[in-house]
This record gives sequence, structure tokens and C-alpha cells, in this order.
Amino acid sequence: MKILIADPIHEDGIQIFKDEGFEVQVKTGLPPEELRQAIKGVHGLVIRSSTKVDQALLEAADELKVVGRAGTGLDNVDIDACTQKGVVVMNTPGQNSNAAAELALGHIFALSRHIARGHQALKQGKWEKKKLRGREVKGKTLGIVGMGNIGSILAELGRGVKMRVIGYDPYLDDEQVSFDELIAQADYISIHVPKTKETTGLFNAETIAKMKDGAYLINCARGGIVDEQALCDALEAGKLGGAALDVFEQEPLPADARILYPDSVTCTPHLGASTYEAQVNVAVAVARQMSAYLKGGEPKFAVNAPR
Ligand SMILES: NC(=O)c1ccc[n+]([C@@H]2O[C@H](COP(=O)([O-])OP(=O)(O)OC[C@H]3O[C@@H](n4cnc5c(N)ncnc54)[C@H](O)[C@@H]3O)[C@@H](O)[C@H]2O)c1
Repeated sequence: MKILIADPIHEDGIQIFKDEGFEVQVKTGLPPEELRQAIKGVHGLVIRSSTKVDQALLEAADELKVVGRAGTGLDNVDIDACTQKGVVVMNTPGQNSNAAAELALGHIFALSRHIARGHQALKQGKWEKKKLRGREVKGKTLGIVGMGNIGSILAELGRGVKMRVIGYDPYLDDEQVSFDELIAQADYISIHVPKTKETTGLFNAETIAKMKDGAYLINCARGGIVDEQALCDALEAGKLGGAALDVFEQEPLPADARILYPDSVTCTPHLGASTYEAQVNVAVAVARQMSAYLKGGEPKFAVNAPR
């Protein structure tokens, strides 16, 4: 059976497929037309966030049984179309959660202490000590939107640095606050929800206006959950203290480059899962899960149930 690796994954995962006797083709970054050729005869497709699994790709897939996402976000996969086609879609929840949570905390500190601005100014030969007085996170309220794998790790980290942590997640039973309570109380809001119809534009002109004056917004989840135009307007108006963005409406380059320029914005190029540890974890997990399924096992961490 054939495995196509369409987005780069760590070698340890590729080795597992080989050891399990699969024929492995690594063809990353293919344009859609070439990918539609490459998918022919393939039983297992491995992706991360770049490859789009859409109707057109599935039409070209003649043997495909499983799509494995090395990571969690599945907004690049048409899950309904996969289900119709009898293709199982699985991801590797939890394997990169620590990496993403640590990045969010890093952004919280970077914003609070102007780390990126101080660094940039120094590199330009400017000693901006007076201009860059920061704030401490101790005692401040951290509002976490989405208390799943990443959100709950960030909650622990936040408590570890003595923040008051509140969470909003309508799909969990434990004690949470409402969305309106969270946005009204939080000094820092960190977003950790999947991108869905419901969460797209969750932070827009109206909801940002309800945030505390001078609050910070951190998005290490997916571009588009925050309306970049509305965020730019709020930053320019001095409504928010700052924002940190790891993800953008358009990647690799944001659709509205305006978001990169305000001094109050700290940016990273979608680095949430980009740690050595997380990349090994997701590659090994996806290879084990897909191999087991293709060899007749029950699907693990499947997000659909095709008949
Ligand atoms: N920046 C990165 O590189 C990076 C890395 C990993 C994950 N992510 C993103 O982070 C997201 C969260 O990852 P996770 O592993 O914690 O997922 P998860 O599924 O464990 O947690 C997501 C949580 O969001 C909640 N949720 C769903 N809709 C909601 C809504 N409308 N309001 C509030 N809560 C809602 C769910 O109930 C769930 O508890 C992923 O979907 C992915 O898009 C980004």
C-alpha cells in the first residue's frame, strides 16, 4: 500500500511507515494539479496545514482510505466530502498542545514587556529604555477562549505565573464564564478554538469594543477568528494595549499587511506547533494511527465515520 506525504513531517514518522512495509512517497508543496496526479494509487495521505483536501483532490483519489493530519486543525480538509467518498480523516490531538500553549505564554510576556520592540530598536542602535516600560502579568486576568488541549495547558501555565485564569468553552461542562463575562473581565485574551463557521470572525468590531480598554488579544489558533481589519482599527484607536498574532487571515503573508506595522503588534509566522518535540510527536502519532488503520485496525482519533 502507498502513503503520500504531502506536507513535511519528521523523519521518525516516515520511518514508521517504511518499517510497517508501506511504500512511501514524499512530495511536499505540490501545486493542486500535480497533487491530483500524485494522489492516484495512494491509500494514505499525510498532511499538515498547507495541503487542501477538497472535492477536486478527492475526485482524483482512486484508492484513498485515510487522510492523516499531523497536528490538530482540520480547516484545510473538506470532511463532509471525505465522508461521502468513504475516506477516514484522523488527526493527532494533544501532540503539539504544549508547544502552542508555551508560544501563547511567550507572546503574553513579549507583549507585556515589549520584548520584540526592545530587540528591534536595539538592533537599530536605539536604547529605548524609557519608552518601553512594561506591565507585570502577576495578578492580571487571563481569559482563555476554548479550554481544550491547548487552552487547558495555558490555564496551568497562567496560574503558574500567578495570573487569575478564566475560561469560556460552551462545549465543556466544568465551571466556565460566559463569553461576555470573559471579554469584559480579561486583561489578556488568548484564543484556542478551532476555526469553524461559529468562530470565524468571533473577534470583530463589536466584540473587540466590549473588551477592557488596554487589554491584549493573542491569537495562536487560526487566522480569521480575529477580524484583522477590526483589530487594526481598534489598535489604531488606542482601544487595545496590543495584540500578538501567530496566524493570519492569509498565509504565508497576511491579507492586510497593516496588521504587521503597529508597534503594539507582536507577530510570529505560524510557529505554534514548530518545536522539535511537537514535530516528532505529531509525525510518530500520525504514522502509527494510519498504519494501524490501513492494516485493518479501528480508526483512532477519526473525526468522521464513513460507512
Ligand atoms: N498556531 C499553531 O501553530 C497551532 C498549533 C496547534 C493548534 N492550533 C489551533 O488551535 C486550535 C485548538 O487546538 P486544541 O488542540 O486545543 O483543540 P481542542 O479540540 O483540544 O480544543 C478546542 C476547544 O475549543 C472549544 N470550542 C469549539 N468551539 C468553540 C467556541 N465557539 N467557543 C469557545 N470554545 C469553543 C472546544 O469545545 C474545545 O474544547 C486548533 O483547532 C488549531 O486550529 C494552532
